[in-house]
Amino acid sequence: MIRRIAVLGAGTMGHGIAQVAAMAGYNVIMRDIKEEFVQSGLNRIRASLEKFVKKGKMSEEEMNEVLSRIKTTLDLEEAVRYADFVIEAIPEVFDIKADTFRTVDRVAPRHAVMATNTSSLPITELAAVTSRPDKFVGMHFFNPPQLMKLVEVVRGAKTSDETVNITVELAKSMGKVPVVVAKDVPGFIVNRVLVRWLNEACLIMEREGVDKLLIDAALKGKADLPMGAFELSDFIGLDVMRDIIDAMVQRGFILTPCKSWKELPEGGKLGRKSGQGFYDWSSGRPNIPADPDAPFDPLEVLSMAINEAAWLVRSGVASAEDVDKAVVLGLNFPKGPLKMADEIGLDRVKAVIEAKKEKYGLPEYEVDPLIAEKVDRGELGVKSGRGFFDYGLKEKEFGSVLYRETPPIAWIIVNRPDKLNAINTDVVEGIMSSLDEAESEAIRVVVITGEGRAFSAGADVTMFKELKPIEAFELSKRLNEAFRRIREFRKPVIAMVNGFALGGGLELAMACDLRIASDRAQFGQPEITLGIITGAGGSYRLPELVGIAKAKELLFTGDLIGADEALRIGLVNRVVPHDKLEEETRSLAMKIAERPAKALEIYKALLNGTKLDAETLAFGLVFGTEDSKEGINFFLEKMKPEFKGI
Ligand code: COA
Repeated sequence: MIRRIAVLGAGTMGHGIAQVAAMAGYNVIMRDIKEEFVQSGLNRIRASLEKFVKKGKMSEEEMNEVLSRIKTTLDLEEAVRYADFVIEAIPEVFDIKADTFRTVDRVAPRHAVMATNTSSLPITELAAVTSRPDKFVGMHFFNPPQLMKLVEVVRGAKTSDETVNITVELAKSMGKVPVVVAKDVPGFIVNRVLVRWLNEACLIMEREGVDKLLIDAALKGKADLPMGAFELSDFIGLDVMRDIIDAMVQRGFILTPCKSWKELPEGGKLGRKSGQGFYDWSSGRPNIPADPDAPFDPLEVLSMAINEAAWLVRSGVASAEDVDKAVVLGLNFPKGPLKMADEIGLDRVKAVIEAKKEKYGLPEYEVDPLIAEKVDRGELGVKSGRGFFDYGLKEKEFGSVLYRETPPIAWIIVNRPDKLNAINTDVVEGIMSSLDEAESEAIRVVVITGEGRAFSAGADVTMFKELKPIEAFELSKRLNEAFRRIREFRKPVIAMVNGFALGGGLELAMACDLRIASDRAQFGQPEITLGIITGAGGSYRLPELVGIAKAKELLFTGDLIGADEALRIGLVNRVVPHDKLEEETRSLAMKIAERPAKALEIYKALLNGTKLDAETLAFGLVFGTEDSKEGINFFLEKMKPEFKGI
């Protein structure tokens, strides 16, 4: 049972930890070596608590209670004599820490746990200076401890399970999210991942001359990171970055540090705190706009974070879930590196790292064997249903149509590549059955595409042979109904146009909400060359998208146009390089999948002109009234309602 906590050090981390512990109800004794340090720590705690009070998160009374739980001292022995748990947060110098722990070991009660907040020193070696390495653990808080949820609980070689459990429970009781780091590796989880991508960004700038602004704009705009690599480095402090990297490299972390880590601090450029770093901070945070179209692939940088995350999993340091959790909480990533890798595709991650190896030959550009193995096994991430995580792949075959679920996306793949995915009744029914499947809760967006070199080269012309007028009428009616179902499907449907989209194939693509095309795609309504006309919506969907004049031209000539022309006239939303088509489609689908489903459904109905007449809308609205609840409930309970007019 932990009641008293000793916090050694009242600096940036120490005072924050003391505050968090006191806020969690523990009696805290905070120690530093000089009265002025202790007072400054206390003042910072008071200032922080006052902020909580101001924001209404805490009452004045509670603040005073928290403060009353914090005692201070300059005497190390006094600080730890009755402590159940000791957290050390003093300077990152081995000898100073070792001396301190020798005293703690001598004076603290036998049951006390000794924790170090070090971010760079080996836990096992610090533990070895005490007589109870089983009761020694790393407890790595993040700055500022009052706000950052993550605590890395680091196991030294001799740390007991009990000590780990006590520390995990303590962190939880402080409202933190502990992640156990099972092996005492340099940099633990978060700093290893951090250093990898920050250093890679810096190397790319230095050796390839890529503009840092471009890299940061892409990391923010394309990978949704809250800060770019250079911005974050400045924010952390370039001297701090240099020290973290030095300490890790000294302990065997394989990295080729970029030059700026040394040169900038030497020139007095420490980042935010000195006003100058990679950027100019002298008049506040530099303005680095997030650019979703930046011509730089963030994977060039993030692949190194992913490779490191894979190393951590393979080396038994933490599970994939925990590595991702730690990075999300510790670095404010929108998602963990392994989840990112799964979404991007492990094959692509591997290829990017291999290209670096090929070009620069550095030892850190070795693809982690865990990634390589997964790629060999076909575990490529979301698209194959499994990567670092399991996505519960569901695959079904409906005749010549493959239906594949990689939630939240469902893929409907017309699978007659040898006939360029020509559409016959079997294909139409396959698409319809796939849509039935895609009604399932887990699916938010549907993508329709074709296998091989065509999206679809149109209605299967063999069906037309000897087709009687009434049969042609029935066929067209069925095609129109089917494509209308796509258009009116509750969820967004994207056509991923991988090649020819001709005739009925183009009509299928046009029935979808959005069209994203490969630069190899070709479009056309060649029916007129067969002596017939469009039969699945071409005559009304084409003018809707491209205007009457262009539609007439395409329909009258039957000519094919390329992807760029299709983009120019508004037939498709985007054109992307063929080898990026799937990735770009997935990323668009994922973005839409994160939007509120009901709002999307209503948008679809509104934009499609689905008959949402005034009565329908009003019918929906009236269910928001109190009187409707009253009326319905009382009817069902056979009582007389009392309407209140609200
Ligand atoms: N219906 C039935 N089969 C079709 C087809 C269609 N709409 N489109 C292509 N195919 C078949 C071809 O007959 C061929 O089959 P085969 O190997 O058994 O002979 C196979 O798909 C490959 O097509 P091919 O013509 O050899 O490929 P290509 O690269 O030379 O030409 C196209 C590609 C798209 C230009 C050409 O196939 C074409 O013009 N297709 C018809 C397009 C059309 O008129 N669609 C509107 C129908 S309403």
